[in-house]
Amino acid sequence: MRVLILGATGQLGGALLRRLGASAVPAGRDRADLTQPDSLRRVLDEEQPDVVINCAAYNLVDRAESEPHAAFAVNAVGVRELALECGRRGLYLVHFSTDYVFGLDEGRRHPYTEADLPGPLSVYGVSKLAGENFVQAHCPRHLVIRTCGLYGLPGVGGKAGNFVEAMLRLAQAGQTIRVKTDEICSPTYTVDLAEATIALVERRVTGLLHVTSSGQCSRYEFAEEIFRQAGLRPNLVAVTSAEYGSPARRPFYAILSQDRLRSLGLPPLPEWRDALSRYLHERQALRPV
Ligand SMILES: NC(=O)c1ccc[n+]([C@@H]2O[C@H](COP(=O)([O-])OP(=O)(O)OC[C@H]3O[C@@H](n4cnc5c(N)ncnc54)[C@H](OP(=O)(O)O)[C@@H]3O)[C@@H](O)[C@H]2O)c1
Repeated sequence: MRVLILGATGQLGGALLRRLGASAVPAGRDRADLTQPDSLRRVLDEEQPDVVINCAAYNLVDRAESEPHAAFAVNAVGVRELALECGRRGLYLVHFSTDYVFGLDEGRRHPYTEADLPGPLSVYGVSKLAGENFVQAHCPRHLVIRTCGLYGLPGVGGKAGNFVEAMLRLAQAGQTIRVKTDEICSPTYTVDLAEATIALVERRVTGLLHVTSSGQCSRYEFAEEIFRQAGLRPNLVAVTSAEYGSPARRPFYAILSQDRLRSLGLPPLPEWRDALSRYLHERQALRPV
């Protein structure tokens, strides 16, 4: 199996590369830019993969509100070009999407299934939903995986940037840290998602699938657990989304049902606290002594 990984410098791309080893062909933005269809055709011609896994995305959720064209160029139009190209070549395309395709039904308090109607609240969410739709429309052999609150080590040459790193950075800087209590999610470790993705690829599962860590917490509870496990005691302040005031609206409740994953005979991903503990150990092991 020859697997082309787009977005190889990102956190999920990096985890897939490390897990797949010799069967992975990494492609960063310098070689395969979703906004440059010619570069996509060239890399597919040169590498002749059996499988394409797209981890590339425009992920700047708040900034997307003021630059919707940039978000759509990558997450929607760029993904459409990729899906068309993979469809023409009969390739199996795995694409990642997000819990942010939900949230419009603000009173929702039970997990979203793959059959639930999406309703995004942000430019980012709409752009990712458009990307999902283009993959479904143009590439018959596809798997779209929606996940939530991703964190992991960066890929080759990539920069670390996720909620856990942001919390640790602020704590080390001695700053007061304001975290939302009314955003409920299932923070997901890239290593666990990569493992599940490879199992799904091996079985050539198709369609739409939710894959996140087990369990749920508010952003505030996640921050508390990060500091507890890291042995830090910063000044952590609980705020509501309204008090926090981000440019982009996010779902209050973003739990994705894992029933379809279970029905495929695959084990649920580990619980979020367990995943966090392994991540903190992994990043610690990489620090210079
Ligand atoms: N992060 C989350 O909390 C989260 C939650 C739910 C779903 N997801 C989805 O999960 C997937 C993986 O996310 P991640 O957190 O691993 O992302 P990430 O770490 O931000 O990496 C994004 C990757 O996309 C690349 N990229 C950006 N623009 C590109 C373009 N025009 N052409 C080609 N590559 C481009 C980046 O390259 P450079 O290094 O050159 O910038 C980077 O390799 C994405 O589809 C994302 O939407 C993420």
